[in-house]
Amino acid sequence: MAIIELRGVDYTIGDARILRNVSLKVEEGEVLVILGPSGSGKSTILRLMNGLLQPTRGQVFNGGRDISELSDDELKDVRRQTGFLFQSGALFDSLTVGANVGFGLRKVANRQQAGEIVADQLRLVGLAGTEEMMPAELSGGMRKRVALARALALSPRIMLYDEPTTGLDPKTSAGIIQLILKQQQRGVTSVVVTHELVYARQVADRVAVLLDGRVVAQGSPEHLLASPDPMVQQFLAGGWG
Ligand SMILES: Nc1ncnc2c1ncn2[C@@H]1O[C@H](COP(=O)(O)OP(=O)(O)OP(=O)(O)O)[C@@H](O)[C@H]1O
Ligand SMILES: [Mg+2]
Repeated sequence: MAIIELRGVDYTIGDARILRNVSLKVEEGEVLVILGPSGSGKSTILRLMNGLLQPTRGQVFNGGRDISELSDDELKDVRRQTGFLFQSGALFDSLTVGANVGFGLRKVANRQQAGEIVADQLRLVGLAGTEEMMPAELSGGMRKRVALARALALSPRIMLYDEPTTGLDPKTSAGIIQLILKQQQRGVTSVVVTHELVYARQVADRVAVLLDGRVVAQGSPEHLLASPDPMVQQFLAGGWG
């Protein structure tokens, strides 16, 4: 069974249908890239995948469980296994970089172990030795990398990345792409939201194209490039987003 699956999912806020009949599977160990223009519903899909949102209709499975109607308490396990890099980074502004990265480790590691994991993760994202800095002292790209280190510190089985390279320079972006691929070698399943085609092609085993809340195409990058669908071609040609 797929490690994540959305089955016939609608997500509605008031009169607005944000997602319409979305069905998607993510197989264990693969990297699925979700491509789509701004406002197409990409972040909404990620939030459904770890239970931050509940579908209006349809079902969401994570790790073999239907999570569509679990309580917050029941969702704790799911969230522990599912790392989330938020689009905004979402750091705790009053905590140091080190405390941010070590935040989820308090319960699972002693102080020294946690310190080592934090140092390792910061090194992996190119921010070695920044433990004592405050988020306000960091650039947007650095904040994003701290958020990434925080998510990876917990060794999740699944990683959800919302625009991991947006706003980063090419060298830093390439480093993030390498990190995603390295996680995959360790068996981590990833879902990567982006509108940057170049990076999508570098990491994707499969791609889903989202347009106006609907999945309009799914398949390998090669399959999509060969798609005769004019909507898909227009997107790939940069006509949107
Ligand atoms: N809480 C909310 N209330 C009302 N509308 C919302 C809410 N959250 C999202 N939306 C709408 O849902 C649609 C999809 O939003 P979502 O954030 O999933 O898009 P996205 O593909 O991630 O866009 P971007 O590339 O800009 O991040 C947008 O039209 C947005 O305005
Ligand atoms: Mg988004």
